[in-house]
Amino acid sequence: MNFRNQFPKDHAGITSGTFDMVAKTFRGLEDVLAGEIEAIGGSKIRKGTRVVHFSGNKELMYRANFQLRTALRILIPFYEFRAKDDNELYTGALKFDWSALIRKNMTFAIDGVLNSPYFNHSGYISLKVKDAIADQFLKKTGKRPDVNTADPDIRLNLHISDDRCTLLLDSSGESLHKRGYRSGASPAPLNEVLAAGMIMLTGWDRKSDFIDPMCGSGTIPIEAAMMAYNIPPGIYRKQFAFEKWTDFDRTLMESIYNEDYPDSSAFFQITGSDISPRSIKMARSNAKNAFLGKKIDFKISPFENMIPAGKGGVLVANPPYGGRLKQENLRAFHVKLGDCLKKNYQGFTAWILTSNLEALKFTGLRPDRKILLFNGPLECRFVRYNIYKGSKKQNRQLL
Ligand SMILES: C[S@@+](CC[C@H](N)C(=O)[O-])C[C@H]1O[C@@H](n2cnc3c(N)ncnc32)[C@H](O)[C@@H]1O
Repeated sequence: MNFRNQFPKDHAGITSGTFDMVAKTFRGLEDVLAGEIEAIGGSKIRKGTRVVHFSGNKELMYRANFQLRTALRILIPFYEFRAKDDNELYTGALKFDWSALIRKNMTFAIDGVLNSPYFNHSGYISLKVKDAIADQFLKKTGKRPDVNTADPDIRLNLHISDDRCTLLLDSSGESLHKRGYRSGASPAPLNEVLAAGMIMLTGWDRKSDFIDPMCGSGTIPIEAAMMAYNIPPGIYRKQFAFEKWTDFDRTLMESIYNEDYPDSSAFFQITGSDISPRSIKMARSNAKNAFLGKKIDFKISPFENMIPAGKGGVLVANPPYGGRLKQENLRAFHVKLGDCLKKNYQGFTAWILTSNLEALKFTGLRPDRKILLFNGPLECRFVRYNIYKGSKKQNRQLL
């Protein structure tokens, strides 16, 4: 880590020149996120588990928040010390001059992540550091700063790995998956960052058709359209945390916001369909919020009745999970899905996200790739099928 200034006088002391950043993501998306960071000009890129470390300047930090589709938040490490017990943690945190970052009347919140034999409760370690910050303010000014966990002015992260305590500034605020276009969600909406990552993993070339035949509230087709039309995911956000920092450069942010993001010529059709009229109503409204109402063709239809217009393309589906489909229906559903893919989607590459690999075997199709992904706490596989005339059928009696 490159701690250029352990005791900055203000945010500018942290964001001047080139500094280290950490982008958080979901497990399985580290490669695509690293690719995205490289594309916006990040340097010293290093992948970890659910994180990608990189370096860049303030402009890159703004871009990372505004342009990365597969990042959940962008953190900046700024202070590090060692502690093996609560007391060392408290005194270590007390040594930092917090008035540099938290100004009068500002609220703050702190989250903790723990991987250490010396501490055993992430809530407790955050509380200890919060106490150190509050006590320092009380001593200096006679007043404690307010803690606001819902919408704080300054969001801090504390990571303890072994006895190494790192404090990081959260430049994003609300998680970046909250793009700002969603007004309604189906019962099991996919996280926007996960949807974007899945589309990137398919390698869709934005020249062929794209279809989600179980689109629910439309997350996958909307993220696909944003990508295809080169719309930065941050365009709908009302605010990023760094906008509240003392060094916020409005002119720089406006120039990034107003940059020309060239649109590719559209030789493709993006379609989303679902059996539920309510879901399609929500999908249409979400797409309208994202200014993509005219770019996506939404249809109410069971997937088995959907016939793609073009020959070939990419299909991505996030079928209902086992919990929602009764066991006896699970088999019939997947048999129908396999038959439909084979009959209607020759020339397509079909990708299915599932937490139930056993049920997927009822499709009778042979996958040629399986990627481990997590949908919230659910361990899933993102499974690829190349559908061609005479696609291989497996024995369906596998269960
Ligand atoms: C897990 S949800 C998809 C959520 C979606 N990705 C989103 O972000 O909102 C599964 C969807 O499959 C739809 N579905 C279930 N059976 C279907 C069928 N036979 N044909 C089409 N859609 C179906 C449900 O209505 C539901 O919206």
